[in-house]
Amino acid sequence: MTNKQTVIVTGGCGFIGANFVRLLIQSGAYNVVNLDALTYAANPLSLADLEGHPQYTFVKGNITDRALVASLFEKYQPAGIFHLAAESHVDRSIVNAEDFVQTNVVGTYTLLEAARAYWNSLPQERKETFRFLHVSTDEVFGSLGPDGWFTEETPYAPNSPYSASKAASDHFVRAFHHTYGLPAIITNCSNNYGPYQFPEKMIPLMILNAISGKPLPVYGDGSNVRDWLYVEDHCKAVKLAFEKGTPGEVYVIGGNNEQKNINLVHKICDILDEVAPPAEVPQLHQQGLKSYRELIRFVTDRPGHDKRYAINPAKIRRELGWQPEVGFEAGLRRTIDWYLHHPEWVDQVSSGAYGEWIKKNYAWREAKEAK
Ligand code: NAD
Ligand code: DAU
Repeated sequence: MTNKQTVIVTGGCGFIGANFVRLLIQSGAYNVVNLDALTYAANPLSLADLEGHPQYTFVKGNITDRALVASLFEKYQPAGIFHLAAESHVDRSIVNAEDFVQTNVVGTYTLLEAARAYWNSLPQERKETFRFLHVSTDEVFGSLGPDGWFTEETPYAPNSPYSASKAASDHFVRAFHHTYGLPAIITNCSNNYGPYQFPEKMIPLMILNAISGKPLPVYGDGSNVRDWLYVEDHCKAVKLAFEKGTPGEVYVIGGNNEQKNINLVHKICDILDEVAPPAEVPQLHQQGLKSYRELIRFVTDRPGHDKRYAINPAKIRRELGWQPEVGFEAGLRRTIDWYLHHPEWVDQVSSGAYGEWIKKNYAWREAKEAK
């Protein structure tokens, strides 16, 4: 470890976590202790190049393990904690929410208790600068109609077991600030996209299915809307909220970039038609595919599917000077390019176990696809 500020990051081997750990290390200002249980959603390859880096320590462990978490606070005396570890996929939470309650609710509570005990033991000046940064989602606000945006004042109305578990975690964080004074900050961000995202989520799933000539399953009629933000822009906002944000405050984060699902799938297909034309991919050529759009299939909708998410990020822009830097077209091209050029990373996550899980659990989607 070097003599920079030390912070704990939970969930650093996941999608946003891997991008975030990189940002912190590259900033040169932090030593990072990454606590991750390495669930199915983690890919050790995502941070393999940081092994042995003097600013980076990896700890394999569960955030629900109170003794482990307490020992990390004790050993590393961190200046703060960034809490990203979570079960994060809505479809999985619909199949079974047990892990969501354990990790997202019990895990967050466990971290809060350990952080509170540690924070209470600090001398006054370190107490004042300590931060508990809780990374949350816009899904806690439920679903929007055709107009309006989520803001920091929007009432909570979670609709899926996933968003209910995240809402519960947000409430615990808020309560620990209000009751005990723990200097906690909550960020609620919209949909992220970019490198290292597990391919059960929409954008990498569509890219990887397309180049394998598999169907592109669009839920319902494809009219649901998400507000997409390039992952590095989210990571910069979280770092800024930690460094400059006010304890007890909430910051919503989004790209002002609403996209209808079907339009987004069309965009992915069109970029792929340009950079990896089916005529030049032998197995797709044999399949007689002319455009990736031919692979689109409308499938049974996700139960309880939220119609529209959109963020008004005016507060974080105004108070912290944040704004997204990566435009959607450029970010999407960068993302597609990354997946096309990292087959070893894709192989690692598309293992037999993941494929088996999909077959067993996606009953509603497969029934429709079979028709
Ligand atoms: P992810 O599923 O890709 O990664 C989650 C990581 O947490 C994995 O590395 C996993 O091994 C780890 N983890 C899970 N349970 C754990 C446990 N009990 N103990 C320790 N580690 C555990 O998730 P993501 O998409 O990177 O999301 C990160 C955070 O950001 C989550 O809190 C999520 O709710 C939030 N968020 C995500 C998005 C998005 O679009 N992906 C948007 C807004 C907010
Ligand atoms: O809004 C932030 C949230 O964004 C995060 O909190 C979640 O962790 C993250 O997974 C994401 O949730 P979504 O449910 O919006 O993401 P997902 O990629 O699963 O789906 C995006 C949209 O695409 C959604 O409307 C469902 C649709 N979809 C998804 C899949 C996987 C499809 O039409 N077909 C698919 O195969």
